[in-house]
Amino acid sequence: MKERMEKLIKLINQANYEYYALDKPTITDQEYDRYMQELIELEKKYPELVSDDSPTKRVGTKVIDRFNKVTHEIPMLSLSNVFNENEIRAFDERIKKEIKNPSYVCELKIDGLSVSVVYKDGKLIRGATRGDGITGEDITHNVETIKTIPLTLKEKIDIEVRGEIFMSKASFNKLNTEREKKGEELFANPRNAAAGSVRQLDSKVAASRNLDNFMYHLPNPIDYNIDSHYEALCFMKELGFNVNAKNKCAQNIDEVLEFIDYWGQNREKLPYEIDGIVIKLDSIKGQQKLGLTTRSPKWATAYKFPALEVLTRLKDIVFSVGRTGQVTPNAVLEPVRIAGSVVSRSTLHNEEYVKLKDIRIGDIVAIKKAGDVIPEVVEAKIDRRDGTEKEFVMTEYCPICHSKLVKKESEAAYYCINEHCDAKKIESLIHYASRDALYIEGFGEQIVEDFYNLGYLRSFLDFYTLKEHKNELMELEGFGDKSINKLLDNIEKSKDNSLERLLFALGIRYVGSKTAKILAKKFKNIDNLISASYEDLLAIHDIGKMIARSVVDYFKDEKNIKLISELKKFNVNMNYIGKEEVINEKLKDKTFVITGSLETLTRSKAKEKIENAGGKVTDTVTSKTDIVIVGENPGSKYDKAKKLEIEIWNEEQFLENLK
Ligand code: IVH
Repeated sequence: MKERMEKLIKLINQANYEYYALDKPTITDQEYDRYMQELIELEKKYPELVSDDSPTKRVGTKVIDRFNKVTHEIPMLSLSNVFNENEIRAFDERIKKEIKNPSYVCELKIDGLSVSVVYKDGKLIRGATRGDGITGEDITHNVETIKTIPLTLKEKIDIEVRGEIFMSKASFNKLNTEREKKGEELFANPRNAAAGSVRQLDSKVAASRNLDNFMYHLPNPIDYNIDSHYEALCFMKELGFNVNAKNKCAQNIDEVLEFIDYWGQNREKLPYEIDGIVIKLDSIKGQQKLGLTTRSPKWATAYKFPALEVLTRLKDIVFSVGRTGQVTPNAVLEPVRIAGSVVSRSTLHNEEYVKLKDIRIGDIVAIKKAGDVIPEVVEAKIDRRDGTEKEFVMTEYCPICHSKLVKKESEAAYYCINEHCDAKKIESLIHYASRDALYIEGFGEQIVEDFYNLGYLRSFLDFYTLKEHKNELMELEGFGDKSINKLLDNIEKSKDNSLERLLFALGIRYVGSKTAKILAKKFKNIDNLISASYEDLLAIHDIGKMIARSVVDYFKDEKNIKLISELKKFNVNMNYIGKEEVINEKLKDKTFVITGSLETLTRSKAKEKIENAGGKVTDTVTSKTDIVIVGENPGSKYDKAKKLEIEIWNEEQFLENLK
């Protein structure tokens, strides 16, 4: 009988390995079930003959009464995080200080929970959670039910390996559908579902959840004569573990970036969730040289994909005043990282938006960021309410100057109509310098507000007289010779912008950047526009009554005409500089990267010129880059361009080719 039982175990284990690890089954499901049933019957009859590695354990027969503590002899570390290319390159630079020409292994960062499994004589004897890294919990009874974790290895060795327990998207959806039917609480994501499943005393629950596993770490490679991480992965695979076939060796950091780029775009297609890419130094000797911090190894890091929708708490709703006087409710959020940046504020647009979505103070809300769009509160999680949430009330007074707000008919917005309201002025200055307006680089919200409060910047004209205060400005905390010169330089450079940018910068009501472009193209210079009548404007396609009226009213106002003539005196360009009609053959369809600072152009201006000439500008130097434009103090992109033998232009060559 013993022999038959051993034979059955061998057959079932082999079938599991072929099915899960190799993805090449050689027996049918029915045959598999028959073997399993026969073994269960025999084990019932002869309990003294039950083997340690019986695959019947997968069915979940054990129930424990508490979780025992387990000490990890080698601490189970976490990983440091990086969020963008610069941080990835900085990681590479740190490694390069210790190791020449490092190569890496890139792995998918599976969103589950880490597990340590220990084998003696090739038999699984313990499975444990990470816990705090030193002490975890014994979850052997549940680990035994996970079909991709072998109960016996191909070799009779003593070994510990570590990896991730996770739930596939399909199993997660199935589980939640079943729970919904039964009226049970739903799991928020596959990770929570996996974690909830392994923390069950009754192993039947874990067995029914269809958990899965990938192994990715061998804590003691030296003991097995292994000197690279990639070899360790192969070794684990040979022993019968499930090792992710998507793992890849990268000869340098650019290949790592390519891997990240690929999976950033294709991760949705995977049958399980990943939240990033793990980058590991391949050489074990190198790993030892670099060592560890208390939390994480210095030889590895995790690049986290930008989250596109995240949950956070709405702590408060505060009001701000825009340059048109419009008062907007804003969400004050528990800071949360989304798409690579930390968000703590986001617009709620207007009273109607908040009421329609029934957003309340204290709510858990979903924040979404798509592409370059400003993050937005998309919905309140009503089922997360506990009754302490406060309903939103729109303010009746300007939060800055406290004058009574006015609601215009047919508009959802409330306005502060006090002409002298500081908030309106600061906003209009921020707008004037902003990216789509005159793009005076360096004049972000904080600087504009500070300069306003210090009295240096009260009107648009003050930008052009700032240089008279250069010495005082250099004394300000946080500023120096260099940074003030840069700001003043940027003001000078911004004077050459085409008319549409100025029109948009002036903040004429209803004249957005698109309308500004239409007007600039049509009238060619500001004087023609000033003398245009309401009818002239209305005759233009895409210009409606509201815009026409607003433009005419704007230029009727003596104050505005005076402003224009003052700006002219400062040599601010008032002409339309159209796109180059003739596509430049040297730039057309070429991909450019700009590195270092250019003397005569801002980076955005250079980009604009390239795009106008039919070229494209990207951030990363890859084999697809055609030309790299190199300014002063170029970064690593320059070295990379040389290495890849990509054509390099200095600023002079660039300007010459632009002609
Ligand atoms: S390596 C010393 N590799 O991510 C080795 N971790 O944020 C440390 N994870 O605790 C772990 N996929 O639970 C590693 N391919 C992978 C991983 C991975 C997922 C998890 C793991 C770890 C966490 C760190």
